[in-house]
Amino acid sequence: MTLRSATLFALALTALFITLPTTPVEAARQLETVDDDSPLLQEMDVIEGQLKLLRRNLKKPEENANSLKAIQEMQRAAVACKAMSFPMAEAAEGEAKAEILKGYKLEMIGMIETILSMERALLNDDNDKARELYKTIKGFEDSGHEKFTDEG
Ligand code: HEM
Repeated sequence: MTLRSATLFALALTALFITLPTTPVEAARQLETVDDDSPLLQEMDVIEGQLKLLRRNLKKPEENANSLKAIQEMQRAAVACKAMSFPMAEAAEGEAKAEILKGYKLEMIGMIETILSMERALLNDDNDKARELYKTIKGFEDSGHEKFTDEG
């Protein structure tokens, strides 16, 4: 073996040892990215979680302080969602895409307004009104998903 081919052989071996152990790590990293929920889905999950809490707590005036925290968090998540795009909009182009995004924003605004009304009701200790508005918010969930997701 010449010095030159020995050097090449050593280089090839080094390259092999550098790449081999990193391959599974890279693969895991890629899987993670594929499994990760989009920012929109993460915020939708936040809304879902807070709504579940409210379904139980709106019946209990002594829990109103906690309900108000849940409402605040839902508002934050819904306002974040309003600024985001989603698969159905991304699949469209030009005017059609603009129309879908506009419809989506208007639907989100409707839901955010309802969440604000729920906050006002609860600050006025009107739990019955807040429970009524809970149903309206569930209605936005149904119509939003019907119009803007494949499941609808
Ligand atoms: C109470 C209100 C809502 C709740 C609890 C909620 C919850 C969820 C959840 C859990 C998902 C994920 C479903 C999955 O993993 O496949 C989702 C997806 C989605 N939601 Fe909502 N949602 C609500 C309201 C809305 C509204 C008002 C809109 C539209 C204006 C909307 C638009 C969407 C879209 C576009 C997706 C699909 C995103 C994607 O495929 O990446 N949601 N929602």
